[in-house]
Amino acid sequence: MIILVGGEKGGSGKSCLAQNLAVYLATDCRLSVMLVDCDPQRTSASWIQARNEQPELTKIHCVQMFGKIRDDLLSLNNHYEAVVIDCGGQDTVALRAALSVTHFALLPLRPKRRDLQTVPHMEDLLSNGMMFNPKLDAAFVLTQCPSLPNQVSRILDAKEVCQSWGLRVLEGITFQRNIYDDSEESGCSVLELEPEGKAARELRQIYNQLLRQENHRAIEITYAHSAAQLEREQHALSGSQAASFRH
Ligand SMILES: Nc1ncnc2c1ncn2[C@@H]1O[C@H](COP(=O)(O)OP(=O)(O)OP(=O)(O)O)[C@@H](O)[C@H]1O
Ligand SMILES: [Mg+2]
Repeated sequence: MIILVGGEKGGSGKSCLAQNLAVYLATDCRLSVMLVDCDPQRTSASWIQARNEQPELTKIHCVQMFGKIRDDLLSLNNHYEAVVIDCGGQDTVALRAALSVTHFALLPLRPKRRDLQTVPHMEDLLSNGMMFNPKLDAAFVLTQCPSLPNQVSRILDAKEVCQSWGLRVLEGITFQRNIYDDSEESGCSVLELEPEGKAARELRQIYNQLLRQENHRAIEITYAHSAAQLEREQHALSGSQAASFRH
């Protein structure tokens, strides 16, 4: 499956969500994952570089791609169970090419006027993408939301703006939390830094909702290539047989 994380507003959390999604799919869901960085800023590629210096973390492959990437994405999709694309913060050829093949698109927005002003253009991009890719399943997600109770109306109003354009908005949101910034520093994921923390829980909810699956196990069963899945289960089985010999 191909999952695009994109949008044209800078700083809304695209790279952060793409990186954490790659880790979620590789660790919780046990899928083979390729992270594609289409942003000339190289945010996700640099994060992977920092990550590779820590051998105890699950290895995630990453490649940079620009321009007409449609065929390359289709080819990656044949080799990996999940291809996650960090598409940078502009309406680029790569973003349009990715929209023409992606199965899911996650579009982060902060509940702020300037972010919400991009919704009509995003709707236009999605409509164009769906002409080539009718099964495209796109969803907005609100990020970096204020947690003060008197700010709830901002979040609800922002959701309403997206819905008024006939667009899907996830129920799950991310709140403003320092752990997002702290985890990036060392190529780590929020899910690895505090696996049962509030941020990890909100991320899992977002990813499960995006993929329309109940939990990580459902995602694994739905998207693992059968051969690879079988091999892993046989491996797990021989592991448990070996364990039973030891006892
Ligand atoms: N929920 C959150 N709470 C607090 N900080 C966050 C949250 N989500 C992301 N951030 C931080 O916001 C900053 C911008 O995030 P990120 O780089 O993912 O945005 P982006 O959309 O990829 O930006 P760009 O358009 O420049 O590519 C980062 O420092 C990140 O750690
Ligand atoms: Mg980015």
